[in-house]
Amino acid sequence: MTLTKRIESTLHAALDRADPAATPPRLAAALRHAVFPGGARLRPTLCLAVAKACGDDRPALADAAAAAIELLHCASLVHDDLPCFDNADLRRGRPSVHAAFGEPLAVLTGDALIVLAFEELARAGAVAPRRLGPLVATVARGVGPAQGIVAGQAWESEPAAPIETYHQAKTGALFVAATMGGAVAAGRDPEPWRALGALIGEAYQVADDLLDASAGAEGCGKPVGQDAAFGRPNMAAQLGVEAAMQRLKSIVRRAVAAVPECDGAVELRDLVKAAALRLAPSQAAREAAA
Ligand code: IPE
Ligand code: IPE
Ligand code: MG
Ligand code: MG
Repeated sequence: MTLTKRIESTLHAALDRADPAATPPRLAAALRHAVFPGGARLRPTLCLAVAKACGDDRPALADAAAAAIELLHCASLVHDDLPCFDNADLRRGRPSVHAAFGEPLAVLTGDALIVLAFEELARAGAVAPRRLGPLVATVARGVGPAQGIVAGQAWESEPAAPIETYHQAKTGALFVAATMGGAVAAGRDPEPWRALGALIGEAYQVADDLLDASAGAEGCGKPVGQDAAFGRPNMAAQLGVEAAMQRLKSIVRRAVAAVPECDGAVELRDLVKAAALRLAPSQAAREAAA
């Protein structure tokens, strides 16, 4: 089965288990709206690719890790789009959850997705109980209040934040959870996989900043110009578009080099390069600035 099929079928099963018969119908619809159709599914793909490179001896646990990470990512987007954060009415080319279902259901949808993510891990943990604790901790750190997404979003409520700290928390941490979680699910030492996740996360956020700063990026499926509108740190604004582009290229090169030697190394390097291509909208920033 392809990684994409594994991810989509695990996500469908996780939402089916959310008991549509008992779940309030508009909440059930909002949950599906938040998860399907997905975006690039980059984090779960990375998680499974690392698990494969590590032998993938418990695929059900790797699937659960990948799905949990994507559910948490979707939750973060639902909350990020709320009027109290970025006030964005468009996500993945469709109305954001609060635009379609209202704010109370959007708050609850994000909450429910977070709960479902950890339930998914708990359910799959029976296949390798000793891996479950470290896996939950690895995933939790990606979204938590110290260095995870909650921290990243909270830095926006501080008077100032170093941009690297802000980016590592709001974006890098979940990519680190994806690479390290893939290794933990396969029963391997996750440490060699930390740098890869951190570098992909860093590249991703620089690319997103370029996209956000680009007047030529309409049609990317979400509002642009948000960082300037809300006074948020933005790498393109801070360094200039050209220097931010150079930084992005250098981070992608370092990410490719950070793939540890392993059986699936070639496949993983290709995945990192493909992810870099997905960052291609940043080219629009260069053109817009030319
Ligand atoms: C958007 O992430 C939020 C950022 C951290 C930049 P993605 O660009 O991965 O979103 P989807 O899942 O593909 O829509
Ligand atoms: C989103 O950051 C990162 C999250 C933790 C949700 P942004 O606010 O910069 O991402 P987009 O541009 O809305 O996807
Ligand atoms: Mg935001
Ligand atoms: Mg946003």
